Amino acid sequence: MCCAPAVHFWLLTALLKLSEAFNVDVKNGLSFSGSVDDMFGYTVQQFENEEGKWVLIGSPLEGQPTRRTGDVYKCAVNGQSKCTKVNLPESTTIANVTEVKENMTMGSTLVTNPNGGFMACGPLYAYRCGSLHYTTGICSNVSSTFQVLNSIAPGVQECTTQLDLVIVLDGSNSVYPWFSVTEFLQKLFQKMTIHPSQTQVSIVQYGENVTHEFNLNTHSSTESVLRAASKIKQRGGSSTLTALGIDTARKEAFSEERGARRGVKKVMVVVTDGESHDGYRLPNVTGECDRDGIETYAIAILGSYNRGNISTENLVNEILSIASKPKEKHFFNVSEELALSTIVESLGERIFALEATSEQQAVSFEMEMSQTGFSAHYSKDWVMLGAVGAYDWNGTVVMIKSDDIVIPGNNSFKTMAQEKNEPLAAYLGYTVSSASIYGEQIYIAGQPRHNHIGQVIIYQMDGRKINILQTLKGEQVI
Ligand SMILES: *[C@@H]1O[C@H](CO)[C@@H](O)[C@H](O)[C@H]1NC(C)=O
Ligand SMILES: *[C@@H]1O[C@H](CO)[C@@H](O)[C@H](O)[C@H]1NC(C)=O
Ligand SMILES: *[C@@H]1O[C@H](CO)[C@@H](O)[C@H](O)[C@H]1NC(C)=O
Ligand SMILES: *[C@@H]1O[C@H](CO)[C@@H](O)[C@H](O)[C@H]1NC(C)=O
Ligand SMILES: *[C@@H]1O[C@H](CO)[C@@H](O)[C@H](O)[C@H]1NC(C)=O
Ligand SMILES: *[C@@H]1O[C@H](CO)[C@@H](O)[C@H](O)[C@H]1NC(C)=O
Ligand SMILES: *[C@@H]1O[C@H](CO)[C@@H](O)[C@H](O)[C@H]1NC(C)=O
Ligand SMILES: *[C@@H]1O[C@H](CO)[C@@H](O)[C@H](O)[C@H]1NC(C)=O
Ligand SMILES: *[C@@H]1O[C@H](CO)[C@@H](O)[C@H](O)[C@H]1NC(C)=O
Repeated sequence: MCCAPAVHFWLLTALLKLSEAFNVDVKNGLSFSGSVDDMFGYTVQQFENEEGKWVLIGSPLEGQPTRRTGDVYKCAVNGQSKCTKVNLPESTTIANVTEVKENMTMGSTLVTNPNGGFMACGPLYAYRCGSLHYTTGICSNVSSTFQVLNSIAPGVQECTTQLDLVIVLDGSNSVYPWFSVTEFLQKLFQKMTIHPSQTQVSIVQYGENVTHEFNLNTHSSTESVLRAASKIKQRGGSSTLTALGIDTARKEAFSEERGARRGVKKVMVVVTDGESHDGYRLPNVTGECDRDGIETYAIAILGSYNRGNISTENLVNEILSIASKPKEKHFFNVSEELALSTIVESLGERIFALEATSEQQAVSFEMEMSQTGFSAHYSKDWVMLGAVGAYDWNGTVVMIKSDDIVIPGNNSFKTMAQEKNEPLAAYLGYTVSSASIYGEQIYIAGQPRHNHIGQVIIYQMDGRKINILQTLKGEQVI
């Protein structure tokens, strides 16, 4: 399943490629121009506020090459043909998630609000939970004065992948060169989403005594941890009190005062290059770690032993005794310090695997890939947001009122109980609309790939319930 999103991103990208900048209001000869590469003009809306008349123009690939987020331009209809960017991506934001706004295609959906203001969406807006990437989409509710009033992303859920990770580093004199250790830390942390709601990390350095370099609650972003990790100095020391280091990490670094969260998976990574001088304590100390539910990865650096032509057998046995079971999954050895970064990939993967398996809904394909805001429509009472990626690309239509959000369940739009359904992504929500018939509000949504021929569903809302009135089938096989 991992690779399906790419195909569907391609679909939107291909659609975007069909558009180019163009003129509006030919009669008066007004023309607004922008970059073809940015897809300037992919969407256009007439707009009016207290200041006068405007044309809103979506530019979903705006910000190339490095900050390609898309945006909407406001162009005053006053003969000057000047357009300014509204800067929606900056203020369209969801708290407490690690957002990926790059490539969000803001402005690929643009509808005016009959009560003033407008709504613009970036269906490829994503956020990260650990190593997982969810493309939920986001919409921006913009006032008539171009202020973002609120951001709408019903598919975003708090990440449930949480880890408290403590690195226990041997900083004794024999570890050389030290920069290979900080480089290893950098490469490892780069792969993580460090945030108080996700992974937290702490570093403890030991030799003859123990130092807390930083606590689990010291840093709240990956960037901040990377900066701190690059500055860690080797504290040296002529003895290696590994048991003391591990015991201090267990008792102190994993304490709530230092930011450990109750009920969150505890992971320790011990990195050392020599046999300990307090090895007699190790059986007791590692037993206590087991008791506390700490999962321990142990990394043996064989560098100083190899340089001194000393047998590594005792060291390897000691480090193996520190590693959690199954040993082969929790033990790493490297021939020298410089080789540390070669194990980042597999160490990272094993830690991330923990992240995923400790949680129930790692990849459930409900709204995580929904691309909510692929289409949008203001009806009298509900705002309709097409979410083509919902339910493994069956798609759905999210309904929004000022005081209510309805995300229909996976069966709400099922229309063919008796017929055989092709197991094909139907893309419900590709287009959305509404109509008023005899004073009754009805909603209309297209699912172009339904059973290869496409279908239009016409429905009503009974409170929060979807009532399907009619379906219209397509004729052409696509
Ligand atoms: C975000 O997290 C902070 C701190 O954990 C919390 O105080 C705040 O209420 C959260 N905001 C939302 C919108 O969840
Ligand atoms: C955004 O798209 C570009 C071009 O397709 C790609 O190189 C880049 O990795 C994408 N960025 C993200 C965060 O997906
Ligand atoms: C750790 O040991 C070093 C060297 O003996 C000493 O200078 C330092 O004060 C010790 N630190 C602590 C916190 O005991
Ligand atoms: C470690 O030693 C302490 C004190 O001797 C003892 O109370 C504790 O049970 C031991 N823990 C384990 C896991 O053996
Ligand atoms: C390393 O030690 C082994 C056994 O003690 C010995 O045979 C070998 O010659 C030594 N190698 C070097 C390079 O000193
Ligand atoms: C390192 O670990 C691997 C796999 O456990 C083992 O085959 C190898 O002999 C070890 N190397 C040393 C030097 O102990
Ligand atoms: C998508 O629709 C098909 C056909 O109705 C159904 O078999 C499948 O279970 C649906 N997928 C999800 C994730 O709901
Ligand atoms: C947009 O903002 C206005 C003003 O805060 C609010 O009344 C309206 O419900 C919002 N619309 C949506 C869809 O959130
Ligand atoms: C559809 O939703 C129901 C209720 O949430 C759930 O039990 C079922 O597993 C879902 N079906 C699929 C195919 O995801």
